[in-house]
Amino acid sequence: MDQRLMTIAEMVPECKFVCDIGTDHAYLPIYLLENNICQKAVVVEVKEGPLKAAYNNISKKNLQDCVEAILGDGIKALEKSLYLKEGKDDYTIIIAGMGGNLIIKILSEGLDFAKEAKTIILQPMSKLEVVYEWLAKHGFDIIDESLVKDGNKFYNVLAVKWSGIEKPCKPIDLYVGKKLVEKRDPLLGEYINWKISVLNKIIIGLKKSIDCNGQKINEKEDTLNKLISIKNEMVDILKLLSK
Ligand SMILES: C[S@@+](CC[C@H](N)C(=O)[O-])C[C@H]1O[C@@H](n2cnc3c(N)ncnc32)[C@H](O)[C@@H]1O
Repeated sequence: MDQRLMTIAEMVPECKFVCDIGTDHAYLPIYLLENNICQKAVVVEVKEGPLKAAYNNISKKNLQDCVEAILGDGIKALEKSLYLKEGKDDYTIIIAGMGGNLIIKILSEGLDFAKEAKTIILQPMSKLEVVYEWLAKHGFDIIDESLVKDGNKFYNVLAVKWSGIEKPCKPIDLYVGKKLVEKRDPLLGEYINWKISVLNKIIIGLKKSIDCNGQKINEKEDTLNKLISIKNEMVDILKLLSK
């Protein structure tokens, strides 16, 4: 297991069932079963090839008696699970290694199972801001978040739980997770500096395009001002961290 998968595993609470949506190699459920973090696992894959690979890995570890493998689409495929029919009281859902838009599609289409989960662990590979916004709008609380760096890439791992209470979301909350600031994640300073450098490039590009192109100027200026204010808020967080 690499650093990203280890960080995900560390955020999974002890539970009866782990449901790994888009399991691919099944490394995560194998680790969680071998370390007694869960008693049983349901692995879901939309493609036959990865599901077979997952099942081979599970069999090599002799774990097939505590794993249910389902060929299906997203969380909603858990309807086919016999394990969850037995006892739908203590399960954690993992959706990792997928784009943010796909993650929120999977959550939206499997809302009933998502709402009842003990915890949902999400690890989006892109469009993090879309995931933060969707969670806040749909009454899912972020109970924990961790950063992990593998090579020169940052990954965010979120532990969420449904409360049904919609939260207001300020623009900065979509750029830097509140939990990361609250708990002063060890990688936060480095992460914010990287985010600022990305924002700076976008801001420079926008300024140039406003200078060269008279069309939609107000719209672009609004975006520019919004990005500059987010960048300033990030600088304020950096100052807070250095105190
Ligand atoms: C990049 S892999 C990530 C594997 C593993 N979760 C990880 O984090 O290392 C994404 C996997 O999700 C599967 N997948 C994509 N959409 C899915 C869906 N709607 N339902 C189930 N599996 C899906 C893909 O077939 C692929 O095997």
